[in-house]
Amino acid sequence: MEINSENLANNELISEVVVVIVPLQAQGHLNQFLQFACLISSYGLSVYYVGLANYNHQAKVRANALKPSDIAKIHFHDLPSGRGEIPTFWDACTLLRDPIASFVRDISSKSRRVVVVHDPLMSYNVQVVSSLPNAESYMFNCVSAFSSYSMIGLFVRLSVQHEEFLKKLPSLEGIMTDEARNFSVSQIPHMNIRSGDIHNTSKVIEGKYLDLLAEVEIYQNKKQWAIGPILPTKLDHISNRNNICLEWLNKQPRNSVLYISFGTTTSFSDREIKELARGLEQSKQKFIWVLRDADRGDIFTGEARRVELPEGFEERVKEVGLVVREWAPQPEILAHSSTGGFLSHCGWNSCIESITMGVPIAAWPMDSDQPSNSFLVTEILKIGLIVREWEKHEELVRASTIENVVRTLMRSKEGDAIRQRAEELGEAVRRSTEKGGASRMELDSFIAHITR
Ligand SMILES: *[C@@H]1O[C@H](CO)[C@@H](O)[C@H](O)[C@H]1NC(C)=O
Ligand SMILES: *[C@@H]1O[C@H](CO)[C@@H](O)[C@H](O)[C@H]1NC(C)=O
Repeated sequence: MEINSENLANNELISEVVVVIVPLQAQGHLNQFLQFACLISSYGLSVYYVGLANYNHQAKVRANALKPSDIAKIHFHDLPSGRGEIPTFWDACTLLRDPIASFVRDISSKSRRVVVVHDPLMSYNVQVVSSLPNAESYMFNCVSAFSSYSMIGLFVRLSVQHEEFLKKLPSLEGIMTDEARNFSVSQIPHMNIRSGDIHNTSKVIEGKYLDLLAEVEIYQNKKQWAIGPILPTKLDHISNRNNICLEWLNKQPRNSVLYISFGTTTSFSDREIKELARGLEQSKQKFIWVLRDADRGDIFTGEARRVELPEGFEERVKEVGLVVREWAPQPEILAHSSTGGFLSHCGWNSCIESITMGVPIAAWPMDSDQPSNSFLVTEILKIGLIVREWEKHEELVRASTIENVVRTLMRSKEGDAIRQRAEELGEAVRRSTEKGGASRMELDSFIAHITR
C-alpha cells in the first residue's frame, strides 16, 4: 500500500479509539476481562482496565494464560474506593458508578471514540455512555449463550420455555441468593443503552442458542459477536515448564489423568471432601486435585481455611494422585495430553477451556450458571457425565457415586465414546479461532466495527 496522508490520517484516527474495560469485581470475571483486554490491545488499540485498586492488582497477579508483555500494554486505572462501611458486595458495586462516569467522561474528551466493554452486571455503572456523543458500550457475556437463554426465562419470565429440551432443564431455583438475583434483575433496564453484545463462546459450540438468544427481547436489534474461546489455544509460548502439575503430567500415560478443580468460589464441607477423597481413592484412577478453599472477598487479606483431607490420604494415593494447594495453570493442564477428564463445577470458563482442549467433563454443578452449563455439556453436547443432578443439590454426594462416575469416564467404552466426541468438538473449536475460522472472523468484525 502506498503511504500517503490519507492512510496516515486513518492510522491516527484508529489510535484515537480508546477501549475501556469494566469487569465485575470478582475473580472469575477479572481474568476473563483481562484476557479480553489483551486480545483487543493486540490489534493496536489503547485499552484501559478499570476497577478498584485491590482488584486490579488481583487481576494482574492471578492473570492466567497471558504473557506479561501483553499485560504490560494495558493501562490499569484504579478507581477511588468509597469511604465508610459498605454493607454488601452488591452495594459496593453500585458505588462505582460515579468514579467510572468521571473516568469515561474525561477520556471521551480526549479521544475520537470511547468504547466501553462491560460486564452485564455493571450495566448500571456505565450509564454515563448515553450522555456522551462519542461513547458507545457493549456487554461482554462471560456465561454461555445457553445459560443466558435459559436464565432469561427465570428472570424476566419471557416465553422462551417453548423449546422441548427446556422441559428437561434442571429447575433454576436455588442457583443464587435472592440478593444476587435482585441485583441481576435490577441491571436489565440499564442494558438498553448498549450497542451490542460480545459472547465468549463459539458458533461451533452454541450456534443454535446464539440464534435463539437473538430472538429474545433483551437481545433483539443489538449486534452480536461470538468471538470465543478467547484463550491462547497454542500454549507452547507460555512458560510454565517448572510447574509441579505439568512436570507430574509429563510422566503419566496419555489420557490417564483426571483433573479436579472447583474454581475460586466453591467451598466444600469437610464431609463432602471426605466422600470425594474416598471416591477418588476407590476409583483407582490417576488424578490431579486442586484443593483450595473459596476466596474470601479480598484475596490478599482474607485468611484461607486449610481444607483437611482424610487421615493418611495423601500418603496412600501418592503413586496415583497429586494434591495441589496453590493456584494451578488450568488451561495448560487441560491441554496436556496426559489429561483425560475434568471433574468440574462447570463454571463457563472451565467448561469452555475443557471443550477447547477436547477434554470430557464430569459435571458437578454448585450454583449460578453451573446447572445449565452442566446440562449443555452432558445432555446437549454429550461430552460429559453428570456427577450430581441439580435436583439433588442438597444431598451429600457419596463416595460410591464419585467412584462410579470417575471409572465410567476414565475407563469404559462409554467414557471412550464421550472422550472421542469431546476431542472432535475441541478440534473444531480450535479451528474456529484460527485465521478464516468463525470466531476469528467475528472478532475481526468487532474490531472493524469499533474502529469504523
Ligand atoms: C473465555 O473462555 C476461555 C476459555 O476458552 C477462558 O479461558 C477465558 O477466561 C474466557 N475469556 C474471556 C475474555 O471471557
Ligand atoms: C428481592 O426483590 C423482591 C421483589 O422486589 C423483594 O420482595 C425481596 O425482599 C428482595 N430480596 C432481597 C434479599 O433483597
